[in-house]
Amino acid sequence: MIDLRQAWLVGPVEIPTRLVLAPMAGVSVQAFRRQGRRFGAGLVCSEMVSCAGIEHRNERTLGYLRVADDEHPLAIQLFGSDPDSMAEAARMVEAAGADLVDLNFGCPVRKVTKTGAGATLLDDPDRAARIVSAIAGAVDIPVSVKLRRGLRNGSRDCLRVGPLLVDAGASSLTLHPRSAQQMYTGAADHALTAELVSLVDVPVVASGDIDSRARAQAVLARTGAAAVMVGRAAQGNPWVLEEIVGGDRREPSREEVVAELVLFVRETVRELGERRASSFLKKFYGWYLGRGRFPRPFKQELVVLDSTEEVERRLIAAAPGALELIERLESEIPSGDEVTLELPISIYGGG
Ligand SMILES: Cc1cc2nc3c(=O)[nH]c(=O)nc-3n(C[C@H](O)[C@H](O)[C@H](O)COP(=O)(O)O)c2cc1C
Repeated sequence: MIDLRQAWLVGPVEIPTRLVLAPMAGVSVQAFRRQGRRFGAGLVCSEMVSCAGIEHRNERTLGYLRVADDEHPLAIQLFGSDPDSMAEAARMVEAAGADLVDLNFGCPVRKVTKTGAGATLLDDPDRAARIVSAIAGAVDIPVSVKLRRGLRNGSRDCLRVGPLLVDAGASSLTLHPRSAQQMYTGAADHALTAELVSLVDVPVVASGDIDSRARAQAVLARTGAAAVMVGRAAQGNPWVLEEIVGGDRREPSREEVVAELVLFVRETVRELGERRASSFLKKFYGWYLGRGRFPRPFKQELVVLDSTEEVERRLIAAAPGALELIERLESEIPSGDEVTLELPISIYGGG
């Protein structure tokens, strides 16, 4: 058994567990990141923020990123294609208190790739290396890069590009071994992760299809990766993080599910405002209440409600015992200082 409660380092930054919560556009809001830390993630990552915002501040955006005290260690992810504006954005990320600046070289969404950012950089290793080197020269915090295997199915470009990025100054790499063309279909091919580990002397994080302790153990043993990253499995299910770092596999009670969801709703309303939060949150109702936890019509009732206050009322009516838990959790979670990063969260996300 590999112990995931071991600390590891990215440059000088100590990451307390070998579990990283994935950056997910439209998901990784502050409530998600803070919850991830509480349930055992050693490192959390913001969804990608756009460097284009530096030049034209009119990009359609979900808002600005807020960073709270209890998120650290935190990576803030940038996407872009111009080394100079990315370096400027990286300085802002550092000033906002991020522990790592993470670069998105994996996003397969056309709106991003057509600007030369995201996964397209795997086809342009010179530019990719120039970006890393500009950023490593601009900030003191370590630079990490998140890659896909390549653009097209079967590509092994990550094995060529990854070492170049390390030479250019990357302190760690995360590999999601699917091609951009695959999007999320097929399986993540962690044989490539093992190859990448053998080619570089910085920590590699394995991302893709890790949804249980058994799977995390198997991927770590097979690849020699420093850590596993968990994305979709943690949507509405922070309990899986607890299990993966070494706890028991257990189904949360209805009260626990409602308490976590209510906290999530409250915090997201604080972050995004009621109007944006109420539509943003709808997908989370299905994620939390599904998995056989509540009858399906209950979720359908919630998604048609206009106000999050009404959602909260119905949730608590369905599990009144949750109130006590919510009070306890709110008293335990520090309210802490916050910093706002003046770069837009892109609505075009993905990776
Ligand atoms: C909805 C969604 C949004 C994502 N957004 C990002 C992103 O902004 N940046 C990024 O590097 N990866 C992004 N990803 C990719 C994930 O970080 C992760 O690499 C991928 O989902 C595979 O891991 P999983 O099988 O654990 O979900 C996204 C994935 C999903 C499902």
